[in-house]
Amino acid sequence: MSHDRLAGKIAIVTGAASGIGAASARLFAEEGARVLAVDRPGSAIDTAHEGVAAIAPLAVDVTGKDAPADIVAAAVRQFGAIDIVFNNAGVSGRTFVEEMADEEWDRVMGVNVRAMFRICREAIPHLRARAAEKGRARIINTASVMAEDTDYGLAAYCASKAGVAGLTRTLALELGKFRITANYILPGAVYSGMTKGNFDKPEIAEIWAKKAALRRLGQPIDLARGALLLACDDADFITGHGLVVDGGLTLRT
Ligand SMILES: NC(=O)c1ccc[n+]([C@@H]2O[C@H](COP(=O)([O-])OP(=O)(O)OC[C@H]3O[C@@H](n4cnc5c(N)ncnc54)[C@H](O)[C@@H]3O)[C@@H](O)[C@H]2O)c1
Repeated sequence: MSHDRLAGKIAIVTGAASGIGAASARLFAEEGARVLAVDRPGSAIDTAHEGVAAIAPLAVDVTGKDAPADIVAAAVRQFGAIDIVFNNAGVSGRTFVEEMADEEWDRVMGVNVRAMFRICREAIPHLRARAAEKGRARIINTASVMAEDTDYGLAAYCASKAGVAGLTRTLALELGKFRITANYILPGAVYSGMTKGNFDKPEIAEIWAKKAALRRLGQPIDLARGALLLACDDADFITGHGLVVDGGLTLRT
């Protein structure tokens, strides 16, 4: 397979210190992109991609008031334009609705949907300018199979991921005339920073591996490859699509 599927592209990837975001920043760079790799202060973002010249780290909490302006300005300042925005930063949590504090609901919605909306809004003028010049630009957002399914304690998480789907489909509708596509990925059970605590327990990892048709957990690179499919020029006519990347986890009821 060729290794220049993102040659000349400039990408922003959030949640890039760990898991799916880290693997995506790395894969995008291997495919020729220059990448602004964003994660929160206190994460491993300043060291995660050390030695990879095409990746510039930025330690910013995506929920900060000025975060969208700071992120977009950093990409434009360092690389001159934006072709791809991959909003992937996300948080989870498990609390029954009956016991959920407002703060918990707001925390999950704040990272998973509100920050995503605000970063998209900030990036749109730059994506429009780039698409006018180059013929295309991309938004890719990370949802979850939990956008469509659920589990105990996941009310805020599921609502946020269904929100990602609705937001992304609407972006696709509004931005299509500018030749900007907007798509979302729905990961299944993936071994990452978020799930490590559970999946390091062999009995739990085995249950989830068995549920998937492909009989294994997803690895971050599996999802990075899904994002790459949507990012590359081959996806020019794909928009508003939710790409399930779950190894067949959700095939069966
Ligand atoms: N792991 C799974 O099984 C799974 C399944 C479905 C969806 N997802 C989604 O995939 C995305 C990536 O998660 P992952 O599995 O790679 O987990 P991860 O915890 O390894 O990575 C998430 C990254 O997002 C960063 N982040 C969180 N809040 C942030 C903030 N406010 N500002 C900046 N960065 C922030 C974290 O620091 C972390 O580095 C998330 O949106 C998650 O909901 C994961």
